[in-house]
Amino acid sequence: MTLEYQVTVSTEDVAFAGTIDDVYITLVGQDGSSKHVKLDKSKFAFHKGDVSTFTVTCSEDLGQLLEIHLEKQGGIIIKDSWLPAKVEVESPDGKVYSFPIYHWLTDSKKHFFREGAAVLDFQETNPQMIKTRKKELKNKKNLYRWAVYKEGTPLCMEADTLKSLPPDDRYPFTRELEFGFTAVAALAKLGLEAWSHCIDKWNSMSDIEKLFECHVTSMSDYAMKHWREDAFFGYQFLNGVNPMMIQRCKTLPSKFPVPSNMTFSKSQLTLRTEMMKGNIFLCDYNILDGVETNTINGRKQFLAAPLVLLHKNEDDEMMPIAIQLKQKPGKDNPIFFPTDSEYDWLLAKTYVKSADSNLHELNFHLLRTHLLAEVFAVSLQRNLPRVHPVYKLLIRHTRYTLQINFLARKSLISESGTITRYTASGGKGMLTLLDRSVSSLTYRSLCIPDDIADRGLEDVPNFYYRDDGLKLWNIMHRFVHDILSFYYKNDGMVQNDAELQNWIQEIFENGFLRRSETGIPQKFTTVAELVKFVTMVMFTCSAQHAAVNTGQYDLYGWMPNGPSTMQEPPPTQKGKADEARFLSTLPDVQTTVHILATIWLLSMQSSDARYLHEFVEEHFTEDFPKYKVTMFQGDLIKLSEDIKSRNENLRLPYTFLDPKLVENSVAI
Ligand code: FE2
Repeated sequence: MTLEYQVTVSTEDVAFAGTIDDVYITLVGQDGSSKHVKLDKSKFAFHKGDVSTFTVTCSEDLGQLLEIHLEKQGGIIIKDSWLPAKVEVESPDGKVYSFPIYHWLTDSKKHFFREGAAVLDFQETNPQMIKTRKKELKNKKNLYRWAVYKEGTPLCMEADTLKSLPPDDRYPFTRELEFGFTAVAALAKLGLEAWSHCIDKWNSMSDIEKLFECHVTSMSDYAMKHWREDAFFGYQFLNGVNPMMIQRCKTLPSKFPVPSNMTFSKSQLTLRTEMMKGNIFLCDYNILDGVETNTINGRKQFLAAPLVLLHKNEDDEMMPIAIQLKQKPGKDNPIFFPTDSEYDWLLAKTYVKSADSNLHELNFHLLRTHLLAEVFAVSLQRNLPRVHPVYKLLIRHTRYTLQINFLARKSLISESGTITRYTASGGKGMLTLLDRSVSSLTYRSLCIPDDIADRGLEDVPNFYYRDDGLKLWNIMHRFVHDILSFYYKNDGMVQNDAELQNWIQEIFENGFLRRSETGIPQKFTTVAELVKFVTMVMFTCSAQHAAVNTGQYDLYGWMPNGPSTMQEPPPTQKGKADEARFLSTLPDVQTTVHILATIWLLSMQSSDARYLHEFVEEHFTEDFPKYKVTMFQGDLIKLSEDIKSRNENLRLPYTFLDPKLVENSVAI
C-alpha cells in the first residue's frame, strides 16, 4: 500500500530567508513515522517567500500527525541558513495539519516542530511528545541565559556580542541596513557633523531654530511654535511622551507651600476650593532629589527635583499654576507663578521639562518598557515550549527586543553612550535613578486601569493617553481572556501548569528582584490572575512602549521643550532671568546635537515593523483561537478608525496609541 501525504513548505519573505541547501523531512504520527526524505528543490523551492508542495509517500497510515522533523544539509564549505515560516501537511484522508515554524535553521541538525494545536504540559500523553517538549526547553535554557547588567536592575539576556544572540532574535539584514544604530551615522544622515564638535553655549534662539530645521515633523513643528505656552506645557503631562507623572492633588504637600487662598482670576475661586472640586493636579519629581549630576565638556550639570501644581480650568485646559524647583521649601527655593516675569516663569517650566525628560527616558521608557520586556521575553523562551498557548500569544510581542536592548546597553547607556554622556542624570546618577525607579515599580502601576485609578485621573477631560490606552487594554484583555479560557477550563489547570508557574517565578525573581512589595504575582492561582498578567505583558511590550517612545523626536526635537540637561543651577531668587541667562542654562551645542541625533534614531519606523493588528505569523492553528484572532484584529481596526475620526477634530492629533501605528514589540 502506498499512501501520499502532500507537504507544503513556506519560506519567510525576508532577505536571506531562503536556502540553497537540501531539505529533509520526517512526518511523525500517532501510529508511525515516514522515512526521513529529501524534498526536491529543483523547482526553486525554499527561496525567500516561496511556497512549494511535495509528495511524501508512506507504506502505512501514520494516524494523527503530531510533529515533523526538519533538517537542512549544505555543502561542506557553504552552509546556507533557512527561515521557514510554516509547513502544512494534507494526509491521504484529506485532513490538513499545520506546523508553525518561524525559526531560523542555521545548522545541519534535526529540528522538531509540533503540530499547531496548543497543548499544556500535563495534557501530554504521547511519550515521544513528552520527550520533545523536555528537549526543546532544555535547548532553549541553554540558549537563553540570564545575566546581571547592573546590580539592582532587572536581569538581562546573556550576550557578549550581537552575533551571540539567537538568530530568531536578531534584526534581519534589511533592518540592519536601515538602523546603523550609531550616533555617528545619525549625525551624518541629519547633516549635523559640523555642529557635533562645538562645545559652546547657544548664542541665540535663532541658532537653535537653524539646527531644528535638519528634520521637522508636524508635531515637532507644533512644539517649536507653542513650547512657551502654559496650555501646551500642561497638555504634555496628559498626552506628551511622558503621561505617567500627573496625579490628582487632594491635599497640598507641606513641602510645597503654595498659598491655599490664592484665587483664580476667571472663577474667583480659591486654590482650596478648586482642590475640593477635584480640579488641582500635581507632578512631584521627588525621585530626582539628590541624584548626582553629570559633568559634560568640563562643566557641572544640574537636574531639578521639581513640584508642579496644575489647574484644570473652565476651558478644560491643564494649566500650570505654581512650580517649585527643589523639594525642600525655603527662601532660596522660590515658588514660581505664571504672574512672574516672562523668563522667570519660562526658566522654571524648562527646568521641569528637563527633569521630566531625564525621568521619562530612564524610568518610564528604559526600565518600564525596554528592560521589563526583555525579562518577559527571556523567561518566555526559557520556560514555555512553542506549543504552549501563552508562548503562542506572546511571542510576537518579543520581536527584536533582545537586539535593541543589547544595542542600547552598548551605545546609549554604556560608559561612552549618548545617554550617559549627554544627559544630566548620565553616569553615577543614572544608577541611582534606575535603582530608585526599580524601587518604585509596582504591578498596579504597570496595569493602566489601576494606574489611572490610583492617580485619580478617571474623569480628566482631553486625556487621550488614558482614553485610547484603556480601550486598548480592554480589547487586549478580552482577547487574552477568550484565548486562555479556551485552554484553561478552571483555576486548577492554571495551578497545575508547572511551565507557566516557572515562567512567572523567573519574572518575579529576575525582573522584580524578588520584591514582593511590588505586588507582582509570584505564582498564578486563578485564570483571572493569569489573564490580567498576560494582558499587562502584551500592553507593556506594545502600547505602553509606543506611548513613551513614538513621540520622542516630535516632542524633544525642539530642544527647549525637553533639554537633556541644564548648565546652571536652579534659580534661588526671582527677577534675575532674561534671555541670555535662559540660553546659557540650556545644554551646549554638542550635547543638543548628539541628543537630537539619538532621539531621531529612536523615533524611526522601520520598513519591516509589525503593528498590533497584523498577525503575520500564524502560531494558533485551531479554529477557535484563529476566530478570536480575527475578532481581535477587527476590534483593533475599529479602534484605529475611531481614533482617526476623534483626531480630525483635534488641533494636535494624538496618534501614539492608534493600534495601526503601535508596534507589537519593543523593537526600537
Ligand atoms: Fe524604545
